[in-house]
Amino acid sequence: MSEQVLIIGASSGIGQGLAQHYMEQGHQVQAISRSQCPSSLAKPAMRWLQLDTTAAGDVTESAVNKAVTEAITATPGIIFICQGWLHDNQHGPEKTLRQLSAAQMQKSFTINVWQPALYLKALFSYLTRQSDVRVLVLSAKVASITDNELGGWYSYRASKAAVNMLVKTSSIELGRYNKTAALVSVHPGTTDTALSAPFQANVPAGQLQSAGATAVRLAAVAAQLTPRHSGKLLNWDGTVLPF
Ligand SMILES: NC(=O)c1ccc[n+]([C@@H]2O[C@H](COP(=O)([O-])OP(=O)(O)OC[C@H]3O[C@@H](n4cnc5c(N)ncnc54)[C@H](OP(=O)(O)O)[C@@H]3O)[C@@H](O)[C@H]2O)c1
Repeated sequence: MSEQVLIIGASSGIGQGLAQHYMEQGHQVQAISRSQCPSSLAKPAMRWLQLDTTAAGDVTESAVNKAVTEAITATPGIIFICQGWLHDNQHGPEKTLRQLSAAQMQKSFTINVWQPALYLKALFSYLTRQSDVRVLVLSAKVASITDNELGGWYSYRASKAAVNMLVKTSSIELGRYNKTAALVSVHPGTTDTALSAPFQANVPAGQLQSAGATAVRLAAVAAQLTPRHSGKLLNWDGTVLPF
């Protein structure tokens, strides 16, 4: 059966992999991004909604509301929220408290927490009434407080732990209105994208996935999601990770 899939932050390496995968499987894809649709994804099954951003490239709440209003006319049953940020030319993940800066922490929380929050807020009315809707917010295993034995990466770990709390809290509120909905955080596994590029040398052999392989795994997780998973942090294989 053909599904309607909504991919938010669709220019991400993983978002593009998901879009490609779902279209190859015969599904219809709605995509929201600050960027233009890459030519590789410009297909009849794709509807790409480019956000109006400010001159600084910032995303406003009104632009998000406009894009979401358009996207939900297709009644998507599966929604991925892909935004994430770890480094840029000025900032690498902090190895020590001595490297912490307000600018880096603020950017991490803006992209890793506030962006997904904006979309959950904009989607909330739709999610309360759409039967069997499934939402997967891309998070990271390094956000697991239980699993943190290495330290470092302060802003990224803290902001992804915060997005997990955002998802958990939203799932409780959503569950009061819609008993058939599932809203989860998911760790995609280490994937060959711009976000992971500077750190790939440290990845054990065989553990770095292509965006296409990650998309297949995440689509399998989405296909098996049920309301009993709601609020949890899932690994790329669908198992539950500790917070
Ligand atoms: N790659 C990995 O190994 C890995 C591992 C664990 C978790 N993850 C998580 O998986 C998700 C996708 O990762 P990826 O590797 O595919 O990332 P990526 O290719 O670096 O893509 C970055 C994403 O962040 C959004 N973004 C960047 N700057 C932004 C800004 N200033 N304002 C709003 N949005 C901004 C982009 O949205 P637009 O489409 O609007 O540009 C895009 O969706 C992220 O949440 C990441 O933390 C990735």
